[in-house]
Amino acid sequence: MTWRTEQLSDSVTLHCGDCREILPTLGKVGRIITDPPYGQAYKVNSYFAGGVRAKAVVQRDGGSCVVDPNIHPEILGDDEPFDPSHLLGVADSILLWGAHKFHDRLPAGSWLFWDKVPTGKLRDQGDGEAAWVNDPGRPMRIFRLLWDGLCVGAGARHEVTAGQKRLHPMQKPVTLMHWCIDQLGGGGTVLDPYMGSGSTGVACVKGGIPFIGIEGVPAYFDIACRRIEAETKQTRLFADAPAAPAPAEQMPLGLGGEA
Ligand SMILES: C[S@@+](CC[C@H](N)C(=O)[O-])C[C@H]1O[C@@H](n2cnc3c(N)ncnc32)[C@H](O)[C@@H]1O
Repeated sequence: MTWRTEQLSDSVTLHCGDCREILPTLGKVGRIITDPPYGQAYKVNSYFAGGVRAKAVVQRDGGSCVVDPNIHPEILGDDEPFDPSHLLGVADSILLWGAHKFHDRLPAGSWLFWDKVPTGKLRDQGDGEAAWVNDPGRPMRIFRLLWDGLCVGAGARHEVTAGQKRLHPMQKPVTLMHWCIDQLGGGGTVLDPYMGSGSTGVACVKGGIPFIGIEGVPAYFDIACRRIEAETKQTRLFADAPAAPAPAEQMPLGLGGEA
C-alpha cells in the first residue's frame, strides 16, 4: 500500500496506510493508545438494530441516524478477529480499547472500563467497553460517560451531539481519550495506529502531547487530518492570544483600581 504522510506541526505526524507496514519503520515509542477494529463486521448499508435489519435510516431516541456509505465507509479489518501481537513490544506503555473481544490473545495486564451509563434500553454495542493496559499491577478504573453507539440523533445526549456530526461509526469521546492519557501516565509521544477519525490525536493536541496517528481508510484519514488540524489551530490561537489585562484589584498600586 502506498502511504501518505501529513506533518501538521512539529509534534503531530499522521500517516495514511496499513499500520502493520508503517509500525516497523517508526521504532519504539513511549505510549500506544488505540482502539483497533474488533471483528464486529460493521456494515454500512444494513445492520441489526434492536433485532431488526435496518436499512438507510434508523430511528432512535426520537432522533434519526442516516447511515450513508459515503459518510461512513466500512471499517478496515473489522471482518476478522483482531490479533494484537504486532503492537506488543512496540511501546513502553500500551492501552488497547475493545480488548475484552481479544483478551485470549493478550498477556497479563490490567483493565480500564468505560461505563456508557445504561439507560434501560438495549444498546447494540453493549453498555460498556474495556481497555487492556500492559501493566498487571494497576487497579481497575472506571470512566462514566453516556454514549449511544452509532446513532447521533436529536434525542441522543452525549458530547458529540452538541451541534456536531458523528464522524466515524466507532468514534470515541475526546474526554475519554484524555482520561486514558492520564491513566496511562508516563511521557513522550502517543501513537494511535488505528486512528479512525482522530479522537486520540485531538486529545493529545489539547494536552500538548506529541502525537503520531495511522489510519488505513483514506476517507477517515482525511477526517482525522481536518479534526486534528482544527484543534492545532485552536490551541495555537489560545497560546498566541495576548494575556488578558489583570483585573483592577490585582493591578500594581498606581496603575488602576484606585477609584
Ligand atoms: C475502531 S476504529 C477507531 C475509531 C477511533 N477511535 C475514533 O475515535 O474515530 C479502528 C480504525 O482502524 C482502521 N484500521 C483497521 N485496520 C487498519 C490497519 N491495518 N492499518 C491502519 N488502520 C486500520 C479502521 O479503518 C478504523 O477506522
